[in-house]
Amino acid sequence: MEGDLPKHVAIIMDGNGRWAQTRHFGRTLGHHEGAKRVDEIVSECADLGIRYLTLYAFSTENWNRPATEIKVLMGLLVQHLSALDKKLVKNHIRLLSKGQVDRLPGFARNELQRVVDLTNYSDPKMSLTLCLSYGGRQEIVDAVKALAQKVQDGKLAPDAITESMITEHLYQPDVPDPDLLIRTGGEYRVSNFLLWEIAYTELYVTPTLWPDFTLPELHKALDTYQHRERRYGKTSEQVVSTPSAP
Ligand code: FPP
Repeated sequence: MEGDLPKHVAIIMDGNGRWAQTRHFGRTLGHHEGAKRVDEIVSECADLGIRYLTLYAFSTENWNRPATEIKVLMGLLVQHLSALDKKLVKNHIRLLSKGQVDRLPGFARNELQRVVDLTNYSDPKMSLTLCLSYGGRQEIVDAVKALAQKVQDGKLAPDAITESMITEHLYQPDVPDPDLLIRTGGEYRVSNFLLWEIAYTELYVTPTLWPDFTLPELHKALDTYQHRERRYGKTSEQVVSTPSAP
Protein backbone atom coordinates (compact mmCIF):
# COMPACT_ATOMS: atom_id res chain seq x y z
CA MET A 1 0.00 0.00 0.00
CA GLU A 2 1.46 3.39 -1.04
CA GLY A 3 1.56 6.62 0.99
CA ASP A 4 1.28 7.19 4.72
CA LEU A 5 -1.15 4.88 6.46
CA PRO A 6 -3.31 6.42 9.16
CA LYS A 7 -1.86 5.76 12.61
CA HIS A 8 -5.35 5.65 14.12
CA VAL A 9 -8.53 4.51 12.35
CA ALA A 10 -11.94 4.89 14.02
CA ILE A 11 -15.09 3.23 12.65
CA ILE A 12 -18.83 3.82 13.07
CA MET A 13 -20.09 0.34 12.17
CA ASP A 14 -23.56 1.23 10.93
CA GLY A 15 -26.06 -0.72 8.86
CA ASN A 16 -26.37 -4.11 10.56
CA GLY A 17 -30.15 -3.73 10.96
CA ARG A 18 -30.74 -2.67 7.35
CA TRP A 19 -28.50 -5.46 6.05
CA ALA A 20 -30.69 -8.00 7.83
CA GLN A 21 -34.00 -6.35 7.02
CA THR A 22 -33.34 -6.23 3.25
CA ARG A 23 -32.86 -10.00 3.46
CA HIS A 24 -36.07 -10.38 5.51
CA PHE A 25 -34.08 -11.56 8.54
CA GLY A 26 -34.40 -10.23 12.09
CA ARG A 27 -32.11 -7.27 12.89
CA THR A 28 -30.03 -9.36 15.26
CA LEU A 29 -28.76 -11.54 12.42
CA GLY A 30 -27.19 -8.37 11.03
CA HIS A 31 -25.29 -7.91 14.30
CA HIS A 32 -24.04 -11.51 14.09
CA GLU A 33 -22.77 -10.94 10.56
CA GLY A 34 -21.31 -7.58 11.66
CA ALA A 35 -19.35 -9.28 14.42
CA LYS A 36 -17.59 -11.42 11.77
CA ARG A 37 -16.44 -8.25 9.99
CA VAL A 38 -15.05 -6.97 13.31
CA ASP A 39 -12.73 -9.99 13.42
CA GLU A 40 -11.51 -9.54 9.86
CA ILE A 41 -10.98 -5.79 10.13
CA VAL A 42 -9.08 -6.11 13.44
CA SER A 43 -6.68 -8.68 11.94
CA GLU A 44 -6.14 -6.73 8.74
CA CYS A 45 -5.50 -3.40 10.50
CA ALA A 46 -2.91 -5.08 12.75
CA ASP A 47 -1.27 -6.79 9.74
CA LEU A 48 -1.11 -3.49 7.85
CA GLY A 49 0.66 -1.79 10.75
CA ILE A 50 -2.15 0.51 11.88
CA ARG A 51 -1.32 1.29 15.52
CA TYR A 52 -4.77 2.20 16.86
CA LEU A 53 -8.23 0.98 15.88
CA THR A 54 -11.34 2.32 17.63
CA LEU A 55 -14.76 0.75 17.06
CA TYR A 56 -18.12 2.25 18.03
CA ALA A 57 -19.81 -0.91 19.31
CA PHE A 58 -22.56 0.49 21.57
CA SER A 59 -23.54 4.12 22.16
CA THR A 60 -25.21 5.72 25.17
CA GLU A 61 -28.22 6.22 22.86
CA ASN A 62 -28.30 2.48 22.02
CA TRP A 63 -29.67 1.86 25.56
CA ASN A 64 -32.97 3.12 24.10
CA ARG A 65 -33.22 0.12 21.73
CA PRO A 66 -35.64 -2.76 22.45
CA ALA A 67 -34.45 -4.82 25.44
CA THR A 68 -34.23 -7.96 23.28
CA GLU A 69 -31.81 -6.27 20.85
CA ILE A 70 -29.66 -4.93 23.73
CA LYS A 71 -29.54 -8.46 25.15
CA VAL A 72 -28.35 -9.87 21.83
CA LEU A 73 -25.68 -7.17 21.49
CA MET A 74 -24.35 -7.79 25.01
CA GLY A 75 -24.38 -11.56 24.43
CA LEU A 76 -22.54 -11.10 21.14
CA LEU A 77 -19.95 -8.92 22.80
CA VAL A 78 -19.21 -11.55 25.44
CA GLN A 79 -19.27 -14.45 22.96
CA HIS A 80 -17.00 -12.51 20.69
CA LEU A 81 -14.53 -11.47 23.39
CA SER A 82 -14.28 -15.07 24.60
CA ALA A 83 -13.20 -16.13 21.10
CA LEU A 84 -11.19 -13.01 20.20
CA ASP A 85 -8.83 -13.21 23.18
CA LYS A 86 -6.55 -15.84 21.56
CA LYS A 87 -6.22 -13.78 18.41
CA LEU A 88 -5.41 -10.65 20.44
CA VAL A 89 -2.72 -12.48 22.42
CA LYS A 90 -1.24 -14.14 19.31
CA ASN A 91 -1.00 -10.78 17.54
CA HIS A 92 0.04 -8.77 20.59
CA ILE A 93 -3.04 -6.54 20.35
CA ARG A 94 -4.02 -4.59 23.46
CA LEU A 95 -7.74 -4.26 24.19
CA LEU A 96 -9.00 -1.00 25.69
CA SER A 97 -12.53 0.14 26.42
CA LYS A 98 -13.95 3.61 26.27
CA GLY A 99 -17.30 4.72 27.70
CA GLN A 100 -19.41 4.33 30.82
CA VAL A 101 -18.68 0.59 31.09
CA ASP A 102 -20.08 0.46 34.62
CA ARG A 103 -23.52 0.62 32.93
CA LEU A 104 -22.90 -2.71 31.16
CA PRO A 105 -24.42 -5.86 32.71
CA GLY A 106 -22.02 -7.62 35.11
CA PHE A 107 -21.31 -10.60 32.83
CA ALA A 108 -20.27 -8.28 29.96
CA ARG A 109 -18.21 -6.00 32.25
CA ASN A 110 -16.35 -8.97 33.72
CA GLU A 111 -15.51 -10.51 30.37
CA LEU A 112 -14.37 -7.15 29.04
CA GLN A 113 -12.13 -6.61 32.07
CA ARG A 114 -10.70 -10.13 31.75
CA VAL A 115 -9.55 -9.50 28.16
CA VAL A 116 -8.36 -5.95 28.95
CA ASP A 117 -6.18 -7.39 31.78
CA LEU A 118 -5.00 -10.32 29.64
CA THR A 119 -3.75 -8.02 26.86
CA ASN A 120 -2.25 -5.25 28.97
CA TYR A 121 0.96 -5.06 26.88
CA SER A 122 3.29 -2.12 27.33
CA ASP A 123 4.47 -2.40 23.68
CA PRO A 124 1.42 -3.61 21.74
CA LYS A 125 1.46 -4.10 17.99
CA MET A 126 -1.94 -2.39 17.90
CA SER A 127 -4.39 -1.00 20.45
CA LEU A 128 -8.01 -1.91 19.82
CA THR A 129 -10.48 0.34 21.63
CA LEU A 130 -14.09 -0.78 21.94
CA CYS A 131 -16.44 2.10 22.63
CA LEU A 132 -19.19 0.68 24.80
CA SER A 133 -21.97 2.69 26.40
CA TYR A 134 -20.06 5.57 24.87
CA GLY A 135 -21.18 9.12 24.15
CA GLY A 136 -18.86 11.89 22.99
CA ARG A 137 -20.69 14.63 24.89
CA GLN A 138 -20.67 12.54 28.07
CA GLU A 139 -16.91 12.01 27.68
CA ILE A 140 -16.40 15.79 27.54
CA VAL A 141 -18.75 16.32 30.51
CA ASP A 142 -16.75 13.78 32.54
CA ALA A 143 -13.46 15.50 31.63
CA VAL A 144 -14.91 18.90 32.58
CA LYS A 145 -16.13 17.51 35.93
CA ALA A 146 -12.62 16.22 36.74
CA LEU A 147 -11.11 19.64 35.93
CA ALA A 148 -13.84 21.46 37.91
CA GLN A 149 -12.95 19.30 40.91
CA LYS A 150 -9.31 20.41 40.64
CA VAL A 151 -10.44 24.03 40.48
CA GLN A 152 -12.64 23.54 43.55
CA ASP A 153 -9.73 21.91 45.40
CA GLY A 154 -7.59 24.95 44.64
CA LYS A 155 -5.18 22.89 42.48
CA LEU A 156 -6.02 24.60 39.19
CA ALA A 157 -6.88 28.15 38.14
CA PRO A 158 -9.72 28.41 35.56
CA ASP A 159 -7.49 30.58 33.36
CA ALA A 160 -4.83 27.86 33.30
CA ILE A 161 -7.15 25.32 31.61
CA THR A 162 -5.84 24.31 28.17
CA GLU A 163 -6.98 22.05 25.33
CA SER A 164 -4.38 19.47 26.28
CA MET A 165 -5.75 19.35 29.84
CA ILE A 166 -9.17 18.38 28.46
CA THR A 167 -7.48 15.73 26.28
CA GLU A 168 -5.64 14.40 29.34
CA HIS A 169 -8.96 13.87 31.13
CA LEU A 170 -10.69 11.89 28.36
CA TYR A 171 -11.39 8.17 28.91
CA GLN A 172 -8.22 7.01 27.06
CA PRO A 173 -5.81 9.95 27.18
CA ASP A 174 -2.88 7.97 25.76
CA VAL A 175 -4.64 7.14 22.52
CA PRO A 176 -3.92 9.82 19.89
CA ASP A 177 -6.70 11.48 17.90
CA PRO A 178 -7.96 9.44 14.93
CA ASP A 179 -6.48 10.25 11.52
CA LEU A 180 -9.34 8.60 9.66
CA LEU A 181 -12.99 8.12 10.67
CA ILE A 182 -14.91 5.62 8.55
CA ARG A 183 -18.71 5.50 8.70
CA THR A 184 -20.49 2.67 6.96
CA GLY A 185 -24.20 2.68 6.15
CA GLY A 186 -24.24 5.97 4.25
CA GLU A 187 -25.40 8.48 6.91
CA TYR A 188 -23.52 11.80 6.92
CA ARG A 189 -23.34 12.39 10.67
CA VAL A 190 -21.00 11.67 13.57
CA SER A 191 -23.66 10.39 16.01
CA ASN A 192 -21.99 11.58 19.22
CA PHE A 193 -18.75 9.69 18.44
CA LEU A 194 -15.35 11.06 19.60
CA LEU A 195 -16.55 14.67 19.40
CA TRP A 196 -13.42 16.15 20.95
CA GLU A 197 -10.97 13.80 19.24
CA ILE A 198 -12.12 14.22 15.61
CA ALA A 199 -11.41 17.96 15.29
CA TYR A 200 -8.93 17.34 12.45
CA THR A 201 -9.81 13.78 11.48
CA GLU A 202 -10.42 12.90 7.82
CA LEU A 203 -13.97 11.62 7.31
CA TYR A 204 -14.90 8.77 4.95
CA VAL A 205 -18.54 7.79 4.49
CA THR A 206 -19.49 4.76 2.45
CA PRO A 207 -23.02 3.53 1.61
CA THR A 208 -21.74 -0.03 2.18
CA LEU A 209 -23.51 -1.57 5.17
CA TRP A 210 -21.20 -2.84 7.94
CA PRO A 211 -21.81 -6.57 7.28
CA ASP A 212 -20.67 -5.94 3.67
CA PHE A 213 -17.55 -3.99 4.73
CA THR A 214 -15.03 -6.60 3.63
CA LEU A 215 -11.26 -6.11 3.25
CA PRO A 216 -11.41 -4.53 -0.26
CA GLU A 217 -13.76 -1.90 1.23
CA LEU A 218 -11.22 -1.18 3.98
CA HIS A 219 -8.44 -0.88 1.42
CA LYS A 220 -10.56 1.57 -0.60
CA ALA A 221 -11.05 3.76 2.49
CA LEU A 222 -7.32 3.69 3.27
CA ASP A 223 -6.45 4.50 -0.32
CA THR A 224 -8.81 7.51 -0.26
CA TYR A 225 -7.16 8.69 2.97
CA GLN A 226 -3.71 8.41 1.39
CA HIS A 227 -4.80 10.85 -1.32
CA ARG A 228 -6.13 13.46 1.09
CA GLU A 229 -4.19 16.63 1.89
CA ARG A 230 -4.33 17.37 5.62
CA ARG A 231 -3.99 21.13 6.00
CA TYR A 232 -4.87 21.74 9.67
CA GLY A 233 -6.07 25.24 8.77
CA LYS A 234 -3.00 26.12 6.68
CA THR A 235 -2.89 26.76 2.92
CA SER A 236 -2.01 24.02 0.48
CA GLU A 237 1.30 25.78 -0.34
CA GLN A 238 2.30 25.91 3.33
CA VAL A 239 1.52 22.22 3.79
CA VAL A 240 3.58 21.20 0.75
CA SER A 241 6.63 23.11 2.06
CA THR A 242 6.32 22.02 5.73
CA PRO A 243 4.07 18.97 6.10
CA SER A 244 3.30 18.60 9.82
CA ALA A 245 0.43 18.30 12.26
CA PRO A 246 -0.48 21.44 14.32
C1 FPP B 1 -25.26 -0.18 14.10
O1 FPP B 1 -26.10 -0.83 13.18
C2 FPP B 1 -24.50 -1.15 14.86
C3 FPP B 1 -24.59 -1.32 16.21
C4 FPP B 1 -25.50 -0.55 17.06
C5 FPP B 1 -23.82 -2.36 16.90
C6 FPP B 1 -22.49 -2.70 16.32
C7 FPP B 1 -22.21 -4.09 16.71
C8 FPP B 1 -21.53 -5.00 15.99
C9 FPP B 1 -20.85 -4.67 14.72
C10 FPP B 1 -21.43 -6.41 16.41
C11 FPP B 1 -20.85 -6.68 17.75
C12 FPP B 1 -19.61 -5.94 18.04
C13 FPP B 1 -18.53 -6.48 18.63
C14 FPP B 1 -17.42 -5.60 19.03
C15 FPP B 1 -18.42 -7.90 18.83
P1 FPP B 1 -27.66 -0.53 13.26
O2 FPP B 1 -28.30 -1.61 14.03
O3 FPP B 1 -27.90 0.86 13.77
O4 FPP B 1 -28.04 -0.63 11.74
P2 FPP B 1 -29.20 0.19 10.99
O5 FPP B 1 -28.73 1.63 10.91
O6 FPP B 1 -29.23 -0.45 9.64
O7 FPP B 1 -30.46 0.01 11.78
